[in-house]
Amino acid sequence: MADMQRVIYFIQRPHGMVTPDAFEIREERVPRLTGDKDVLVETVYASVDPYMRGRLSAGKSYTAPFAVGQPMAGAMVGRVADGGRSSLTAGEWVFGSWPWAEYAVLPETSLRRLDPSLPPTTALHVLGLTGLTAYVGLTKFGRPQAGERLVVSGSAGSVGSLTVQIGRLLGLAVYGIAGSDDKCQWLEQQMGVHKAFNYRAADFADALAAGLQEGVDIYFDNVGGAVTDEVLRHLNPHARIVICGQIALYNQDKPAQHRPLFSDLLISRAQATGFIVGEHQEEFPKALKRLQSWYRLGQLHAEESIAVGFDQWINAFLGLFAGANRGKAIVQIKDA
Ligand SMILES: NC(=O)c1ccc[n+]([C@@H]2O[C@H](COP(=O)([O-])OP(=O)(O)OC[C@H]3O[C@@H](n4cnc5c(N)ncnc54)[C@H](OP(=O)(O)O)[C@@H]3O)[C@@H](O)[C@H]2O)c1
Repeated sequence: MADMQRVIYFIQRPHGMVTPDAFEIREERVPRLTGDKDVLVETVYASVDPYMRGRLSAGKSYTAPFAVGQPMAGAMVGRVADGGRSSLTAGEWVFGSWPWAEYAVLPETSLRRLDPSLPPTTALHVLGLTGLTAYVGLTKFGRPQAGERLVVSGSAGSVGSLTVQIGRLLGLAVYGIAGSDDKCQWLEQQMGVHKAFNYRAADFADALAAGLQEGVDIYFDNVGGAVTDEVLRHLNPHARIVICGQIALYNQDKPAQHRPLFSDLLISRAQATGFIVGEHQEEFPKALKRLQSWYRLGQLHAEESIAVGFDQWINAFLGLFAGANRGKAIVQIKDA
């Protein structure tokens, strides 16, 4: 094992669109085991997530900002390099949260051993927080009834591509919104979406109006902004809006003008609920059982965009805001 490793530090808060200047790659010594139940883990797969952009800013949010001058951190899947005196042995796959680095030393209690019968990356999406976000958001806050019409924004992304499939499995008529014709075609041909709309197309508003003539019963919103403004024109009476994410706003410095949501809610007697998946842990066991069963039966497809190499880490994160990924964005740091 090497003595030195690379670590990605967060060095300055971005204003507007995040750029590579926010980060710096440094060489450091690989950390050593110190505590009794410490484990040395080698990072193999790293999750890059839109919420991390929120943590780069100092403003009010639902998670604390990252501290400037500290390493970035997030969800990872890795292999135990040295289990020390813990119950983990070298080579075992584990899930946890640690710095954007090639190695990390962590207490055993902060790691979860992975089921070897499942691909390790599934812990970062379909059988992890992404899948739970899609399932809990749609079932608890969307309150779906078979036959209803579901619209999902950001539907070719990680949460979105699972939400459209879960919607279909629950008997909903599913409509998707994504940022390219290729993604829309994939949604219709592979993900069981009835009709997908490209929000970058010049005729987006007209196409949406034509395609949603029977209205929207559930809107699962991953993006907010101008896309959401258009969807809100088509709410059915007693529609439910599940506010999962607002990625279109994460890189905006100044608030933009949007449709008056309260008027839309009043006119449609609709309900809009923001939720953060981590606050609904009581739902997780049942949700994971269902997700795992659908996944093992081949009914839930887990799409991944894997960027290979440590030097792709920052780009893969920035790519989230340019639509570079289809399904879950992951960086592969070491050979699996
Ligand atoms: N509430 C929760 O607990 C929770 C948990 C996880 C994630 N989230 C939120 O859920 C959303 C999706 O997260 P994810 O992890 O699944 O990421 P993701 O959708 O896989 O990746 C981001 C995608 O968002 C789209 N996008 C980027 N900038 C956009 C813009 N300005 N306008 C419209 N679309 C844009 C891009 O697709 P296109 O090519 O289609 O533009 C991009 O591929 C995010 O807003 C995230 O913050 C919430």
